[in-house]
Amino acid sequence: MPLDLPVADALIGRAEELDRLAALTGLDEAAPRAAAVLLSGDAGIGKTRLLAALRGRADGTGWRVLVGHCLDFGESALPYLPFSELFGRLDTESPSLAQVLADAYPPMRRVMPGRRPPTDSERDDVPRVDRSELFEGVHAAIEHLGGDAPLLVVIEDVHWADQSTRDLLSFMFARGFSTPVSIVVSYRSDDLHRRHPLRATAAQWARVPGVDRVDLSPLCDADVRPRDLAGLLLVRLDQLDEPARQVVRVTSAAGRGIAHDVLAEVAGLDGTALDQGLRDAVERHVLVPAGPDSYAFRHAMLGEAVYDDLLPGERVRLHAAFVRALAAPRT
Ligand SMILES: Nc1ncnc2c1ncn2[C@@H]1O[C@H](COP(=O)(O)OP(=O)(O)O)[C@@H](O)[C@H]1O
Ligand SMILES: [Mg+2]
Repeated sequence: MPLDLPVADALIGRAEELDRLAALTGLDEAAPRAAAVLLSGDAGIGKTRLLAALRGRADGTGWRVLVGHCLDFGESALPYLPFSELFGRLDTESPSLAQVLADAYPPMRRVMPGRRPPTDSERDDVPRVDRSELFEGVHAAIEHLGGDAPLLVVIEDVHWADQSTRDLLSFMFARGFSTPVSIVVSYRSDDLHRRHPLRATAAQWARVPGVDRVDLSPLCDADVRPRDLAGLLLVRLDQLDEPARQVVRVTSAAGRGIAHDVLAEVAGLDGTALDQGLRDAVERHVLVPAGPDSYAFRHAMLGEAVYDDLLPGERVRLHAAFVRALAAPRT
């Protein structure tokens, strides 16, 4: 097996952001302390990739890393899902340690899959764990883990967290830890519309002393070696749906930018597909609106890379379609 990572897996740019996350979480410190970081940024901007790099930095340093994900289940989200994932993984990796926690802090067994106490519908003599006992139990278990080894907790995509998970996180941030526990939560800032439930909560979290924020901006040409950037952006292109790819290919043949009506004509997409394609390409940071009625590549270099990637016949066809579109009388 080759030892070097494939190019698509290498971290491009982000050295500064990685250093900042490592500093805020205390990852490089001889005597780490408790910390919390809110990592925000648009969908696809690289939060997960950066957190993977942070995790890589933690490997081999004696830190324990536990990751939990929030999933897009809407209102039917399972309560405390990321915490169940995190403790479930701990139970797989270190069953004896998980057993110690389950014994020492019984209420936290509610979020330890496989060690859940029978519910009261199954056994009448088992009291239901109330919320504050659960919060105390989970907090104490995490603090205990931090005493065993410095602990990095990563909770991904909290824009999808349900109320119970948000409340438990609020409790963790407010309470803090007396052992080295660093919690990093990630969320999509472009998703937080005015009435999104995380919006107010994240603002509250940010005001808690000891909670820091890192907001990721798009990689820019200056951060990155040009060859890497083109490669990265072509990878991103693979994730687009066909209408978006078509929009992007057409735009690459247009040169600097393209008017909406010309794009519609040359792409040969109907209104819905065209809108969907454009929205997709803009959300993925491939295209940007350029003026009231036109679009351009966010990075000129990506436009060139896409253009170079077109088949020779495709290029000829696109150019012919441009000539027709530009010659046709506007309606
Ligand atoms: N700095 C980077 N270096 C290499 N690949 C990256 C980088 N940032 C993002 N990517 C790639 O772009 C895609 C989207 O990034 P991801 O981390 O999943 O975004 P997010 O979690 O913010 O939605 C992934 O395929 C990821 O590997
Ligand atoms: Mg992600």
